[in-house]
Amino acid sequence: MAVAEIPGSLAADFQEVDQSKKRQTARVIDGKAIAAKVRASLAAEVSALREAHAPSPGLGVILVGNDPASHSYVRGKERACEEAGIFTETMRLEGGVSQREVVDQVERFNRDKRFHGILVQLPLPDHIDERAVIRSVDPSKDVDGLHPENAGLLLAGAPRFVPATPLGVQRLLIEDGIETNGAKVVICGRSNIVGMPLAALLLGRGRGANATVTVCHTGTRDLASETRQADILVAAVGEPRAITSEMVKPGAVVIDVGISRVEDQSRRRGYRLVGDVAYGEVSAVASAITPVPGGVGPMTIAMLLHNVLLARKLSLGGGR
Ligand SMILES: NC(=O)c1ccc[n+]([C@@H]2O[C@H](COP(=O)([O-])OP(=O)(O)OC[C@H]3O[C@@H](n4cnc5c(N)ncnc54)[C@H](OP(=O)(O)O)[C@@H]3O)[C@@H](O)[C@H]2O)c1
Repeated sequence: MAVAEIPGSLAADFQEVDQSKKRQTARVIDGKAIAAKVRASLAAEVSALREAHAPSPGLGVILVGNDPASHSYVRGKERACEEAGIFTETMRLEGGVSQREVVDQVERFNRDKRFHGILVQLPLPDHIDERAVIRSVDPSKDVDGLHPENAGLLLAGAPRFVPATPLGVQRLLIEDGIETNGAKVVICGRSNIVGMPLAALLLGRGRGANATVTVCHTGTRDLASETRQADILVAAVGEPRAITSEMVKPGAVVIDVGISRVEDQSRRRGYRLVGDVAYGEVSAVASAITPVPGGVGPMTIAMLLHNVLLARKLSLGGGR
């Protein structure tokens, strides 16, 4: 996942502009609470499944290099798996490892019956072809939903593994009671991991879907005129303050997927996390908004657990 760094001086400006316009009217969508509820119900399901069928669901993780954000995401995923009763093992590889060695490790996980799901933490170092590594994952263990077979199934209207972040956004909308049926949704960002699969999900039929979807990107001619049409606006660009209040229709629901690290010496770690949305000023216009952190992030972890459980059920010949 891309984590943008922005300099401290700029970070202070962001905070000032945001604070000066802050007149919160939007309801805060509590992703942390919703994710906790989803995780508790998944843990109960894992426990029932373990009683009936050993072994526990298992997740094999491959982590390459020393990127601090990637290490922190993987620690979060390991903790969440343990709490849910999912067996997990992480293979940590040096940043200089060859593509062949990464693929060899994927293939070991493919063959190992203890692992029903496999996750390769992205991004990989530049000398490794991410797409080749993703293609080497057994599609029936691809809990990240990035293998072309799973991406194709989603587009064909028969989703199996859907990437956890878009699945988490959809689940957040459902659990929070936000109607997507007939809504105009505008998604900023077209990555394979967020924007594209989210568009496919929300365009589908059924609950938490059936929306009219527009996807924007750097080639979009007039971004603000598109975003102002949205009943539900999703920001997934990886740029702090990419979405300001002028870009939001009054009363819209705003979902902020972005996560960027902003230098902040007042914090113990020396940084804080911000989303793509100018939170303070947009809160004065929107009807509901997700915070960063505490919005989409926790849902991503919950839906990874959902996908590992699904992989285990599929290995037993079951389904959802
Ligand atoms: N909360 C979570 O769990 C979670 C999970 C995944 C990602 N994220 C965060 O979500 C953000 C996006 O991640 P990603 O992996 O999708 O990033 P990405 O691969 O860098 O994709 C960014 C997308 O945004 C578009 N974009 C960038 N700047 C734009 C602008 N000014 N106007 C319109 N479109 C713009 C890009 O357009 P082009 O295609 O034209 O370049 C691209 O499609 C990052 O901050 C990442 O850290 C969070």
